[in-house]
Amino acid sequence: MHIIIAGGCGFIGSNFVKMVVAKRPAWRVTVVDALTYAGNLANLADTGLDLAHAFAKGNISDNGFVERLFGGFPEPPECVVNFAAESHVDRSILGPRAFIETNILGAFNLLERVRLAGRGRFVQISTDEVYGSLGDEGKFTELTPLDPSSPYSASKASADLLVQAHHRTFGVDTVITRCSNNYGPYQFPEKLIPLMTINAMQGKELPVYGAGRNVRDWIHAEDHCRGILMAIERGRSGEVYNFGGESEMANIQIVERIADAVTGGRDLIRFVKDRPGHDWRYAMDITKVRDEMGWSPAVTFDDGLRATVEWYKEHRNWWQPILTGEYLTFYDQWYNNR
Ligand code: NAD
Ligand code: TYD
Repeated sequence: MHIIIAGGCGFIGSNFVKMVVAKRPAWRVTVVDALTYAGNLANLADTGLDLAHAFAKGNISDNGFVERLFGGFPEPPECVVNFAAESHVDRSILGPRAFIETNILGAFNLLERVRLAGRGRFVQISTDEVYGSLGDEGKFTELTPLDPSSPYSASKASADLLVQAHHRTFGVDTVITRCSNNYGPYQFPEKLIPLMTINAMQGKELPVYGAGRNVRDWIHAEDHCRGILMAIERGRSGEVYNFGGESEMANIQIVERIADAVTGGRDLIRFVKDRPGHDWRYAMDITKVRDEMGWSPAVTFDDGLRATVEWYKEHRNWWQPILTGEYLTFYDQWYNNR
């Protein structure tokens, strides 16, 4: 089995590469990644993969690159799993174009390779955000209509529709996974949990949007990756599978816990101007994956958050080099005068 893992140097992708290497040692793995600000080859350092052969640097929105890459394999791969994306909602508000290029055109370029090869499974890693925003009640099922709010979620929903079209029109073997908010080691410090943890460690303000009452359904990246492996091996062709942590939390609850754990107090918390188009609540109904695959989340939020905060405390050498030029420019642009 030869699997192409696009976006394998990012947060969830690198956790997935590690899981595949550990649990499916006979598989041949090729990681494809543009190494954008969010991608870091060092995330794969302890995989034991021979990166000289198992890693290809390139941009999936460049069809010439994608064509050459696939043309270089003696046989088409059995599976292409696409994690590669621009993934941060706030950046999609500051500059949506890269989201269209990577998340839509990039996904399409990979899909086309699978279609033209006439074999192989295409697995698209999507998000609960394509369903839009919930009120205080209810959960998203796989049948909830797509209703995205941000340029990020609109671009992910667009890719999902192309995947569906390639399955229905061309018979491409596809699976779409949609997951709720992930957390865990190696998450880029622009996202809520690492941002608050690292800011608290540095004595910086903890910027909570609005009143901090928006709700997300948190899942540890390891649980998500275990689900993706199941979807690759056992997912039915053409299907969508929701994954979620069954762990709903208001943002302020999380920020308070992190503040307590890191600084022993809440003085750094500051309520700032809300995100435009801020989805109120996400929650996943995971009945389908539970029934079809026997999957359910194993890591509790209490344990997962504690371990994640510890990981960031112990891995300054991972995050300190990231908090430089590009990150500081984004941080100033987004948070200054908020
Ligand atoms: P991330 O931003 O940490 O990583 C994205 C990776 O994609 C990086 O390694 C980056 O270099 C690479 N990449 C970006 N543009 C590329 C391009 N044009 N060509 C090749 N590589 C490119 O993201 P993440 O949080 O690990 O998310 C991975 C996937 O999971 C995304 O598709 C995201 O939409 C989806 N997802 C994320 C979450 C979450 O909570 N983080 C939840 C559900 C779904
Ligand atoms: P984020 O990690 O960006 O994930 P998403 O927007 O994809 O759900 O944000 C999670 C929640 O935390 C979201 O409701 C926005 C909020 N948030 C803040 O209040 N302050 C921040 O600085 C960030 C990054 C997020």
